[in-house]
Amino acid sequence: MPKTTIVSPSNIAFIKYWGATDLASAVPENASLSMTLRACHSRSTVEHVDRSGEHEIRWRGTDGGLETAPPAFAQRVREHLDRLLDWAGESGFFRVATENSFPAAAGLASSASGFSALTLAVLGALGRAESHAMQSELARRSGSGSASRSVLGGYVQWPAKALAPDGAKDYAFQVHPAEHWDLRNVVVIVETGAKETSSLEGHRRARTSPYFERRLRDLPGRLEAVRDALACRDFDRMGAIVEAEAVDLHCVAMTSAPPIYYWKPATLTVLEAVRGLRSAGVSAWATMDAGANVHVLCQPDDEDAVAATLGGLPGVDRLIRDGVGSGPFADDAHLF
Ligand code: PMV
Repeated sequence: MPKTTIVSPSNIAFIKYWGATDLASAVPENASLSMTLRACHSRSTVEHVDRSGEHEIRWRGTDGGLETAPPAFAQRVREHLDRLLDWAGESGFFRVATENSFPAAAGLASSASGFSALTLAVLGALGRAESHAMQSELARRSGSGSASRSVLGGYVQWPAKALAPDGAKDYAFQVHPAEHWDLRNVVVIVETGAKETSSLEGHRRARTSPYFERRLRDLPGRLEAVRDALACRDFDRMGAIVEAEAVDLHCVAMTSAPPIYYWKPATLTVLEAVRGLRSAGVSAWATMDAGANVHVLCQPDDEDAVAATLGGLPGVDRLIRDGVGSGPFADDAHLF
């Protein structure tokens, strides 16, 4: 059977998805907007076998070889594979192998790139050419909402049906291609292991925070302000909103019941250093997903200065120098 391999990038949200009206299929409480990355990506190889059998799911283990994926991850993948078979009206099973270019489950949106790559590779293996809208919709149904944004390159918005006027769709669309603005993202890794609380659990608890309703009220205006600054490439105006937005999400997480503290002491060290960079005239702004690592946004001319300062901070394991990317692509380098 022919194999399909897709490389799909991760993304970093400027306005973040937090809280779902339907958690299982990731129907968001709010609209979000992200930048698709390029260095942080997942590679997924899928083969469709048209006879009865169990899905075979492997991933790249720490010793470098392909090994049977751990049960919790394999279960999520299996459910998504069944969902896609169902949707396509097909039978049989899949052979799947996947790997990441960055540490999984550490707030680096490995589920976004992973489920985007998996969804697109399954569509390829089934010979289904689908629109971006359908790809996004199918990736979202994996339960990893941010995967719906990773099927596209550049700057991507994912609307929330509940908040949008009638007829609005809940699939992501591109706001600007990558060429619109060469932004960089220096990812500061302060935690390489798996985080204690998944983003799924964070979404579940979001409504228990007394600040959640206020956040939902603020977000439409914040999204418009980011879109406007993005359109006119006003980095400082956009950065200030993006950094405040990330802190707002973590306020909600820290005041949920029970509370979720994603930050580590080194997260604050990095945030302080980013403020220090700005005082020294280097324009850099931070954002954090559901984890301790910090994504520091900057423009190309400032990237070296940002990396030199942040790479040497106590508690920093390493940096990944990333930037805006053009989205997923098919590749001949199969994993098996
Ligand atoms: O897609 P999920 O369920 O992993 O949730 C993503 C949550 C954040 O990364 C914190 C925000 C976002 O929009 O990417």
